Amino acid sequence: MGLATPMTSALGIEAPILQSGMGGVAGPELVAAVSNAGGLGVLAALRLEPDQVRAAIKKVRTLTNKPFGVNIWLHDDVRTPPNPTSISNDRLRAVQDVLNEYRPRLDLEPTLTLPDPGPDLVNAAIEVMIEEQVPVFSAAIGTPEPRLVERFHSVGTKVVSMVATVADGLDASDHGVDVVVAQGSEAGGHRSYGSKRSKSDAVGTSTFVLIPELRDAISLPLAAAGGIVDGRGLASMLVLGADGVLLGTRFVATTESMASDIWKQRLVAGERRTTLTDGFTGQWARILDSEFADRWETSQVEALPGLLQATAGKDLFSAAKAVGDDQLQPLYAGAGVSGLSSIVGAGDVINDMVAEAHEALESVQSRLDPTRDPRSGDNSPANQ
Ligand SMILES: Cc1cc2nc3c(=O)[nH]c(=O)nc-3n(C[C@H](O)[C@H](O)[C@H](O)COP(=O)(O)O)c2cc1C
Repeated sequence: MGLATPMTSALGIEAPILQSGMGGVAGPELVAAVSNAGGLGVLAALRLEPDQVRAAIKKVRTLTNKPFGVNIWLHDDVRTPPNPTSISNDRLRAVQDVLNEYRPRLDLEPTLTLPDPGPDLVNAAIEVMIEEQVPVFSAAIGTPEPRLVERFHSVGTKVVSMVATVADGLDASDHGVDVVVAQGSEAGGHRSYGSKRSKSDAVGTSTFVLIPELRDAISLPLAAAGGIVDGRGLASMLVLGADGVLLGTRFVATTESMASDIWKQRLVAGERRTTLTDGFTGQWARILDSEFADRWETSQVEALPGLLQATAGKDLFSAAKAVGDDQLQPLYAGAGVSGLSSIVGAGDVINDMVAEAHEALESVQSRLDPTRDPRSGDNSPANQ
């Protein structure tokens, strides 16, 4: 059963469902499973070396001949990383003092230093995508400039741009992108703004409010992101004017995702309150609430710019991941996480969502008109 929309036509896919690029989660197996089921699988390229991006693209091509995308952040401070030497000792000490409270728990030495953040990889990844002529470039956390959109179009690559405001949606549309993704405040992971905002400003607008606003503002194919985990969510976004959806959290809890088992388990059972924090990376992101996120909030310490917060705490967060300490690593999750109850195959997510969306839309029509028999598909009075 299909569900064709202007977005499926624009991207050459069959189901109006995009899987978000997600660092450490969306590798070739997940991408291929989504694309093979008719959605758009999207590789995560953030923080990968150019050779790793190329190898992942080539691997996807061995697993599917359907369209797929590659995602990168275009945030000002990520594309041109801040110089670590510009950080004052006092500011660094305040951050490291909080992190040092937790290092002994994982047998790590306290530190007051900032490790070298390494080379800028964003622009290098973009060059690989253009050389490889990937079917879709997925941009987030900053809108692609017109010249970049033109470069992708010149090699036949479609451009998808994720925004969290109407103003950014209008910019993306003016810059010539092919599809806009509207990210509501329910979304898991980082807020899609091109530069950092205050926390109250970063929370953003709920998906329910943002989609109609953007629908009225732009005529491009529009996907809704944030809090959508099933076919009812897909159906409701179509009704609000979207041409499809983009899902992150639902795809983290799939068999093909590279997320750790503890992360997947935390997404499908138990207490799943989410919160917005900049304590793990320096940029605002929605995660499952945790001991570290609470402590960071009460500390009132200002996070380091760009992704230097992640660099400063890399030893701690990596060690937590290695030993499965779910309180000291960011388990990104959207507010819709409470709707998940099992880890499933990514292809099943696509197939089930499309079927459920059809059922949901039929069920609304039946409720509004109880004389209608959804099974017959014939509404004529002669058949009632
Ligand atoms: C684990 C995780 C990692 C994410 N990483 C990225 C990323 O690298 N690039 C990106 O564009 N969006 C990323 N996102 C955000 C998604 O694009 C999207 O806005 C969000 O997942 C939609 O909300 P949902 O999680 O409720 O489905 C990530 C989301 C999650 C849950």
